[in-house]
Amino acid sequence: KKVAVGVDIGGTNTAIGIVDEMGHVLSKGGISTPSHGNVAVYIQDLSDAINKMITNVKLTNEDIEIVGIGVGAPNGNYYNGTIEFAPNLSFEGVVHVVKLLKEKFPEMDAIALTNDANAAAIGEMIYGGAKDMKNFVMYTLGTGVGSGVVVNGDLVYGHDGFAGECGHTTLVPDGRLCGCGAKGHLEAYCSAPGMKRTAFELLAKYNATDSPLANHTYNDLTSKMIYDAAVAGDKVALEVFELTGHHLGQGIADTIHHLSPEAIFLFGGPLAAGDFIIKPTKASMEAHLLPIFKNKIKLLPSNLDAGDAAIVGASALAWKELDK
Ligand code: BGC
Ligand code: NA
Repeated sequence: KKVAVGVDIGGTNTAIGIVDEMGHVLSKGGISTPSHGNVAVYIQDLSDAINKMITNVKLTNEDIEIVGIGVGAPNGNYYNGTIEFAPNLSFEGVVHVVKLLKEKFPEMDAIALTNDANAAAIGEMIYGGAKDMKNFVMYTLGTGVGSGVVVNGDLVYGHDGFAGECGHTTLVPDGRLCGCGAKGHLEAYCSAPGMKRTAFELLAKYNATDSPLANHTYNDLTSKMIYDAAVAGDKVALEVFELTGHHLGQGIADTIHHLSPEAIFLFGGPLAAGDFIIKPTKASMEAHLLPIFKNKIKLLPSNLDAGDAAIVGASALAWKELDK
C-alpha cells in the first residue's frame, strides 16, 4: 500500500501524519515547532520523528511504501520549496525545507512544500467540501491568518509563488501592528492572538472584572476559553466574536470582489465556536458585498476533520507531485 507523509508546520506545533491516497490518516504525531530558530536542529528532529512514525506504521502494515512528503508552512513558497521570512516562526530569512528534507530522504520521489493555507485548500478540494467546486477560497485562522485561492480548479501561486496572503489585507488604516510589521492587517484582528488582544481591550474598556476572561494572563488565555465564556453568555466574549467576525467578513468580502468564488471555507481552532464566529462573519461579509454578490456566496466551515485537514492537505501535495 502506498502512503504519503503530511507535515503541517504551525506557529507552535508541527503535526505529522501518514496518510493514504484516500485521505485516511494511518498514524498521527508531531513535534513542537521550536523557538530556538536553529533550522538544522529542527530538520533533524522532524526527520527523526517522521522516520519513527514510518517504522511504527510498517510494524502493523507490512506492505507500506512511502511515496513522499508534503509540507504546509506559513510563508511557504511552492516554487522554491522554501519558507521565507515567516514572522510567526523563529527561523530567519529563507529556509530551504525541501532541499534539506531531500538530503534526509534521498529515496523519496515526491517532496514538496506549499503555504499552509494552500495545503488546507488542497485538502478541501480533494477530500472535503470543495470536491465539486472550481472556484473557492480557504481562510485559515490560527497563530496567523492564511488563505488558499483556487481558480478554475487550480491553486493560484502567482508570479513568485506567494499568491493568496489574504490575512494581510489592510482593514484598519494605521490600525494594530501585525506580526509582519505593517499596521491594520486582518491577521492582527482575526488570528487567535488577535482575538486575545480584542478580549483584553474589551476587558479594560468595560473594566469587566467579573468576566471569566478577566482572571487570565495574556499567555494562558486561549480561544477555547473565549468560546466557553461566550457559551456561558459572557458579554466580553460575545463581543470578541462579534468584532472578529466583523473584521473577517470585511476581508472576505474583498476576496469575493477580487475572485468571484462559489464559496469561502473557514478552518482552524476558532471555528470550534461554530455560529459564534460564523454568524457575525456572514453578516459583515454580506454588508460589505456588492449587490451582484449578495446572498450568493457560501460561507462554510471546512468539512475535513478539524485536527486532520492540514496534514491530509499537505500529504495530498505529495500525491500531486508524483502525478506531475
Ligand atoms: C502568513 C501566511 C500563513 C498564515 C497562517 C500568515 O501570517 O503570512 O503565509 O499562511 O499566517 O499560518
Ligand atoms: Na496562501
